[in-house]
Amino acid sequence: MAYKITSLAGDGIGPEIMASGIKILEAIAAKYNHTFEIESHPFGGAGIDAAGDPIPPETLKSCQNADAILLGAIGGPKWDNAPKRPEDGLLALRKALGLFANIRPIQVPSSITHLSPLKKEIVENTDFVVVRELTGGLYFGEPKHWDDVAAVDSLTYTRVEIERIIEKAFEIASTRNKKVTSVDKANVLASSKLWRKIAEEVASRHPDITLEHLYVDAAAMLMIQRPTTFDVIVTENLFGDILSDEASVITGSLGMLPSASHAENGPSLYEPIHGSAPDIANQNIANPMSMISSVSMMLRQSFSLFKEADAIDAATTRTMQAGFLTADLGGNTSTTDFTNEVLKQIEGGE
Ligand code: IPM
Ligand code: MG
Repeated sequence: MAYKITSLAGDGIGPEIMASGIKILEAIAAKYNHTFEIESHPFGGAGIDAAGDPIPPETLKSCQNADAILLGAIGGPKWDNAPKRPEDGLLALRKALGLFANIRPIQVPSSITHLSPLKKEIVENTDFVVVRELTGGLYFGEPKHWDDVAAVDSLTYTRVEIERIIEKAFEIASTRNKKVTSVDKANVLASSKLWRKIAEEVASRHPDITLEHLYVDAAAMLMIQRPTTFDVIVTENLFGDILSDEASVITGSLGMLPSASHAENGPSLYEPIHGSAPDIANQNIANPMSMISSVSMMLRQSFSLFKEADAIDAATTRTMQAGFLTADLGGNTSTTDFTNEVLKQIEGGE
C-alpha cells in the first residue's frame, strides 16, 4: 500500500533528525514492501525564509492532503523579531488541522535507567503517557494582546473541548493500566473547575478505570518523586507543555521523546517534543531518537503497521543497549552513526 507523508523538517536540528527519520522509513519500505510517498515542504523559520510565511499555503495544502505529517522542529534566534514567528506556524497548523489530542509517551528503557538524573529505583519501570489538550486554553484564547503597560492572555475552555480530550485519555487508559490522572488547578482557575466536573462525568461512563485528580503543582512534584505511579495523565494545553518537558528529563534527555497529535478526522502529526536546538545544529550530534520514535508512532497509530513499528522500536532498543549513545546521553555517537546502527538492526532483525 502507498502512504502519503508530508515532511516538514523545519529549523535547527530539524533537517538532521528528519534525514534520520526518512532513512528509517526507506528501510521499512524496502523490508516490508510498502511505498511511502514523502513530500517535503518549508515550515517554521524555513517557511519564513522561503516564502515569508511560517506556514506557506502550499505547505498547509500538502499537510491537509497527506495521510500523516512528520515534523522535525522549528524556531531559532534568527526569527525572534519576525512579524510572525516560526511558532505561530506550528500553532496555526495545529489549529487548521484540529489537532486537539497530543499524546506524549514517557518510557525509560532499562538500558538507560542509569542515565536518568533520578535514582535508578525511582525511574525503573516508568511508563506513562501525557495526553495534552492542544488547540485550546491560553495558547489560543481571545482577547490576547500586549503593549508596554499591560498584557492579556485568556484561558478559555468549552465543555466540548474538555470532554473530547478527557474521553481520549480514558480510551488510552483502557488499553493500558486503567488509571487516569487529571491535572488541573481547580483550587484557583474557573476553567479547571469545569475541567474537574467533566472529568468526573467521563469517569462515571468508564467504571473500570480509576480517576485521580491532582493540582498541577503537586503533579509536577510527584512526577519526579514517584513517576511509576502514573499511567495516563490528561491536562490542558499549557500545563501539558510544561509537564511533558519535565517528564522528558526522567528519561535522561529531552532528545528521546516523540509525540502524536490527532484530530477528530484527517491526518495526524508526529513530532519530537523538543525544540530546534539551534546551539547544536549542523554538528551531526543531535539525538535522532525522538524522530525515529515519532516515525514508529506514525506507523502504529496512522497506518496500523504494527510489526513494522515493533521492528523500529526493537532496533533502537538494541542500538542503545549496545552502547550507541549521542552526546545528550553522555555518549559520542553522531546522529548519522546512531541512525546507521538502527538501520543495520532493522535490516538484520526479525
Ligand atoms: C511543544 C513546543 C511548542 C508548544 C512551541 C514550539 C510553540 O514547546 O510542542 O511542546 O509550546 O506547544
Ligand atoms: Mg513544549
